[in-house]
Amino acid sequence: MKKRTEMTVETVQEVALDTIEMKLNHPYISTAAQPGQFLHVLAEGHTLRRPISIASIDREYGTITILFKVMGSGTKNLAAMKPGMEVNVVGPSGNGFTVQETPARTALLVGGGIGVPPLYGLAEELQRKGIGVKSILGFQSRAHVFYKEKFERIGTTYMVTDDGTLGHHGLVTDILDKAGRFDHYYSCGPIPMLKAVREQLRGHPGFLSLEERMGCGTGACLACVVRAETESGYQKICTDGPVFDADEVIL
Ligand code: FES
Repeated sequence: MKKRTEMTVETVQEVALDTIEMKLNHPYISTAAQPGQFLHVLAEGHTLRRPISIASIDREYGTITILFKVMGSGTKNLAAMKPGMEVNVVGPSGNGFTVQETPARTALLVGGGIGVPPLYGLAEELQRKGIGVKSILGFQSRAHVFYKEKFERIGTTYMVTDDGTLGHHGLVTDILDKAGRFDHYYSCGPIPMLKAVREQLRGHPGFLSLEERMGCGTGACLACVVRAETESGYQKICTDGPVFDADEVIL
């Protein structure tokens, strides 16, 4: 069940160009949250909350880590917060990755840009369940890269950059075959990337997180509607997702 509450800021740091990592403390939210869900965060001076995906969950210490890009005054205000301050949050929101029902031995994670953080929380959860993890992570350039070493500690990790300043020069889809054998895949990033990943991995069971397409995050604005193979013909990313079975949504 999601909750409207104050979370206490524990740490705030820039982990890559214009990319902020914030650790928030709240015993209930850290216990209830699942990888792939998001927090609906209220930035100072704004009335509209913004959805920010969960990058890591530490149930023992009661903390949740989120990562966000500084893109406007709301995220700038959030980035300026100091340890000990409180952030008003609704969460955990949405439907996350279904890890516990995954009878997989090895999972392939494919992420692009700010779609990488939810995959990190997933990688940690898969590792806890004894499932092998391989990751292919794409960023604009070396300056935008974060969590490379964290992913490498969990499993084999391939890096890709648009400008070739780190790892493969090109797209994550150029090197999908490098991953070898896997049982399930999970992908999060821009829609064109998700489309290409699904196309190339057709035949493999997979899950896509469409978190980049969210607006209000509460089911009210309809900005996030995606066509789907359901009775109604559509799904709302913020309340039905952001994670969907790869065959369920029409991209
Ligand atoms: Fe507004 Fe989903 S983001 S309805």
